[in-house]
Amino acid sequence: MYKGILHSHYLVVVLFLLIYVIKTILLLSNKNELLVKFSKKIKILEIIVSTLFLVSGIYLSTQLPLGGKYDYLFWVKIIMVFLAIPIAVIGFKKSSKILAASSLLLITVSFGISEVYSNRKGERKEIIKNELVQNDGKSLYESNCASCHGSNGKLCLAGAKDLTATLLDLSAINKIILEGRGLMSAVNVNREQANKIAEFVNGNIKGH
Ligand code: HEC
Repeated sequence: MYKGILHSHYLVVVLFLLIYVIKTILLLSNKNELLVKFSKKIKILEIIVSTLFLVSGIYLSTQLPLGGKYDYLFWVKIIMVFLAIPIAVIGFKKSSKILAASSLLLITVSFGISEVYSNRKGERKEIIKNELVQNDGKSLYESNCASCHGSNGKLCLAGAKDLTATLLDLSAINKIILEGRGLMSAVNVNREQANKIAEFVNGNIKGH
């Protein structure tokens, strides 16, 4: 649903921009008669496109995962769009080239901002994904334990014990991770991560 609306919004915005560009070019090149004819012809289409543009835009903005570093870009974009619309209406009504051109500029820049914004959001998703991957028991084990115990648990570096042969249960493993024991010092992970590692060791290494 979200994806579908996002794509429709994109399409509608491109159409909207296209109509705008044509109208502005006509105005700027003094083709006023043609501009009137063109505006009349596409009046209905323009109303449909603008309505879809706003409706899909409003829907999408309610679905936005706010709280990121680049959210201000979103607000800049919204302000520009809402500035551009009345400027355009007045500009075309008064046949003011400056107003029509500035409105088109605003819309185009805000379109560019959306592009940058969604790319950044893509980066953000990528980061979140990486965090997820590195937070599973296996990855946490690899980065915190394998240096002494080995990926398979059998490496006994620095006096480490063979984890495949351990008799400890889940909570005892958990405790050693958080508090250390003898030659093994506590590992610098939080409780949640310690649980994940302990589960991984208990289920995938112990007895294997
Ligand atoms: C710097 C090396 C090192 C690292 C890193 C390390 N260990 Fe150890 N581990 C040891 C040593 C040494 C012992 C033996 C401790 C002792 O003297 O009782 C040990 C013992 C253990 C034991 C007890 C085994 C038994 O049957 O008595 C468990 C379980 C264990 N480690 C799990 C882990 C886990 C899980 C991690 C990662 C979160 C980890 N260790 C990281 C060195 C390490």
